[in-house]
Amino acid sequence: MGDIHRTTEAVPRADDSEALARYRAVRRATEALIRSLTPEDMQVQSMPDASPTKWHLAHVSWFFETFLLTPHLTGYRVFDPRFGYLFNSYYEAVGARQPRPERGLMTRPSFDDVMAYRAHVDAGMARLLAGGAGPHADLLDLGLAHEQQHQELILMDILHLFAGSPLQPAYAPPKGVPQTEPAPAAWIGFEGGLVEIGHAGPGFAFDNETPRHKVWLEPFRLADRLVTNGEWLAFMADGGYGRPEFWLSDGWARVQAEGWRAPLYWREGEDGWTEMTLRGPRPVNPAAPVSHVSYFEADAYAAWAGARLPTEAEWEHAAAHAWHDGEFLTSGRLTAQPAPAGEGLRQMYGDLWEWTRSAYAPYPGFKPAKGAVGEYNGKFMAGQFVLRGGACVTPGGHVRASYRNFFYPHQRWMFSGVRLARDGV
Ligand code: AVJ
Ligand code: FE
Repeated sequence: MGDIHRTTEAVPRADDSEALARYRAVRRATEALIRSLTPEDMQVQSMPDASPTKWHLAHVSWFFETFLLTPHLTGYRVFDPRFGYLFNSYYEAVGARQPRPERGLMTRPSFDDVMAYRAHVDAGMARLLAGGAGPHADLLDLGLAHEQQHQELILMDILHLFAGSPLQPAYAPPKGVPQTEPAPAAWIGFEGGLVEIGHAGPGFAFDNETPRHKVWLEPFRLADRLVTNGEWLAFMADGGYGRPEFWLSDGWARVQAEGWRAPLYWREGEDGWTEMTLRGPRPVNPAAPVSHVSYFEADAYAAWAGARLPTEAEWEHAAAHAWHDGEFLTSGRLTAQPAPAGEGLRQMYGDLWEWTRSAYAPYPGFKPAKGAVGEYNGKFMAGQFVLRGGACVTPGGHVRASYRNFFYPHQRWMFSGVRLARDGV
């Protein structure tokens, strides 16, 4: 039971005297992620959805500079006025920016210059937070949560880059993983009824988690663990990727256009399927949860299995009953693990983000934050689906029951997995 407190308890608010220490801990955690990377690794953009590590390192610093230091620190000198164009991601209110697909073309500033930029911003933040966060507590919390999101994005993007390299480099050394096939998934029933979801406070949450509101749930069941690679192999062996009856129309179009026949990082060799991971290529482990699947694949698998994906309200309601965490970035494993034996819901937090069938839409009464940071989440509420729970590359303490991640239904370079649901108790 103790584990749940690690992930569901809110991170303390920034209006304490520990503000600078918390800032430094998050910044150092980012820098710890790049120790095994070369400057060349950090330069390349492997696809338009991904960004160079170097860009991530600078962009999170630009965020603190733009939203905290420039408006709120008297006498702050901007490191380089040209960096606004280079490292603004998508804030229309802040100004023009380098086109997203062309982030990898910026060989300047150099990696060393980006690290100098980080140091300059760190010095400014040390001055701003010298007496605690004070009135900047909310923006500090946002900036820290933002940098943590980019920690995960750095790892997603590096895996995509390395998976496309003929040398298949390992980001981290190989590590043994348990091979014991978990017991067949059990169904955990919930009566449903009138429940509440959304952030209730105290502590930080993104604006998209609010307001807390009532939702009606019909009785439902959730699988007690994630779908495994072994189960996914059975779907493939049954012709899953070749049978349109299981697929949404848009998903079937993707299967054909992109030739999908397995999860993103699987390759078929003479000895069967291997999977590219942050620890290099390795044989697909049937016991481990299937990872790097799109919404379309998750939905098709559920149809094949005679089930469906959960709604985000079902997931959040059930998360209150979850007590077995999976892996987070802080555990250092970098891979999702087979569900441990146990009673009740497992892997709700950590291991892999779980696709829900809920469109990423505003909650009733939702209002984006005021100012440019109001562009952070709200303007992306079209055409995407919500994922819940965090993954093995998500920093520990970053997620909570109400946390809403979101991606387009064709995307699959995230650490995304599948938990099944069914109607009725
Ligand atoms: C919530 C992961 C979809 O990648 O754009 C980073 C996170 N927001 N900077 C994204 C984010 C602003 C966001 N996702
Ligand atoms: Fe960002």
